[in-house]
Amino acid sequence: MTRFYITTPIYYVNDVPHIGHAYTTVAADVLARYHKQVGDSTFFLTGTDEHGVKVAQAAKEAGKDPKKYADAVVPRFQDAWKLLEIDYDYFIRTTDPRHEKIAQDTLQKVYDNGYIYEDVYEGLYCEGCEKFVTEDDLVDGKCPLHPNKKPVHQKEKNYFFKLSKFQKQLIKLFKTSEVQILPGSRKNEVLGKLRENLQDVSVSRAGVSWGIPIPWDKKQTIYVWVEALQNYYTATTLAKGKEKFWPADVHLVGKDILWFHTVIWCALLLAAKIPLPKVVFAHGFFTIDGQKMSKSLGNVISPKELVDKFGADAARYLLLSEFPFGKDGDFSFEKLETKYNTDLANDLGNLISRVEKLCSNAKFRVAPPTKYKFHKFTKESLESFNFQLALQSIMERVQGLNRQIDIHKLWEQPEKKRHILIDITESIREVAHDLKPFLPEKAREIKERFTGPDIKPRGPLFPRIA
Ligand code: ME8
Ligand code: MG
Repeated sequence: MTRFYITTPIYYVNDVPHIGHAYTTVAADVLARYHKQVGDSTFFLTGTDEHGVKVAQAAKEAGKDPKKYADAVVPRFQDAWKLLEIDYDYFIRTTDPRHEKIAQDTLQKVYDNGYIYEDVYEGLYCEGCEKFVTEDDLVDGKCPLHPNKKPVHQKEKNYFFKLSKFQKQLIKLFKTSEVQILPGSRKNEVLGKLRENLQDVSVSRAGVSWGIPIPWDKKQTIYVWVEALQNYYTATTLAKGKEKFWPADVHLVGKDILWFHTVIWCALLLAAKIPLPKVVFAHGFFTIDGQKMSKSLGNVISPKELVDKFGADAARYLLLSEFPFGKDGDFSFEKLETKYNTDLANDLGNLISRVEKLCSNAKFRVAPPTKYKFHKFTKESLESFNFQLALQSIMERVQGLNRQIDIHKLWEQPEKKRHILIDITESIREVAHDLKPFLPEKAREIKERFTGPDIKPRGPLFPRIA
């Protein structure tokens, strides 16, 4: 049996979920559902990243202990995923003591294998990114991703990881796609930067107490990224019976954290002698009405807002159909409404209503559904992370069916055109099969509506939004 293990990033609990987090999580859910539907043994992981300065600060501002603070935010993520019909198999929290233990053990292995030494770190740190930065990373002295957070200067005794030792090996791994970085343009970016130079990195923090203690020096904590990345591996032990799933097939991430998921993660695994993940896919970033989504601009959209307006299935559809997954894009409520009305209310919704009516007029009894397989094009598009293309091609089939009804004027003498209706209802069920990973509820409903014996009009599948 084929195994498939897919992960999303684990999101920081300093803030509540927004549609940026939903974007990655819905995409991963579609792939996981697809693999489950074809019968692969599938493990889909998501979770939360709960240590570090950023979370500690947010907790402090809320006047809470960091763990209590995290405990309150975690359900917000879980609720959002429930609303969006995210069918994850395990939710990992980095404050789980079992994760803490395994993260320590792995770092200890890296240490025992001779890849860690003590030195002094002096430089800048962006608390928004939880990342050591250099002047080259900054624009006018500010982190381009966190312009409101001034990078902090710090000087402290740290433990360093001999990342530089892995430069050649990593270049080879990525070049040969033994670890495949997708899309290809992102792979070239990583390779370009990797070839320039690769410096050792600090893996501990002396001044951050909200973290996992360094096993051989309890006065320091493990640098949050070094511990967070390990969640993908530890989860296979925390979730029952999932050990066999390591190494992961796909780490799905945003382009902002690709370097960590390729260079840093793979080097750590090499140093600890743990097998490497197979694919790291970095999707693009989107803006809202052309602007970065940010609290200060007040344009942050929550998953709940999207679901309240469009319903869960349509929200999922809209997130993945607006622009190609690997590219940057832009959302606006206006564009989403148009797409909802055009694709879902008109094309798909009308098809269902029309055919129900025709079947009902023709006193039509449907044949029982057969076993369906994904259309070759849907399969290929999904397996290459081309969600938009998969949906476009499904919608073209929907449009084609609407055209057939028009061409054959099925509303005239419907009882004489039953063979065409039979074909169309069967095609609708095939379309529903392909839509199921994207629209789990609506696809189920379509199938139910077209599973006999008698088909009758049952109201719009996607009511128009004014
Ligand atoms: O980085 N467009 O967590 P995070 C698309 N804890 N995707 C977006 C987005 C946008 N505008 N905004 C956010 C972290 N995302 C770490 C990860 S993993 C071991 C640790 C998504 O809460 C995208 O997936 O800052 C991005 O990579 C992620 O949210 C960052 O989430
Ligand atoms: Mg972030």
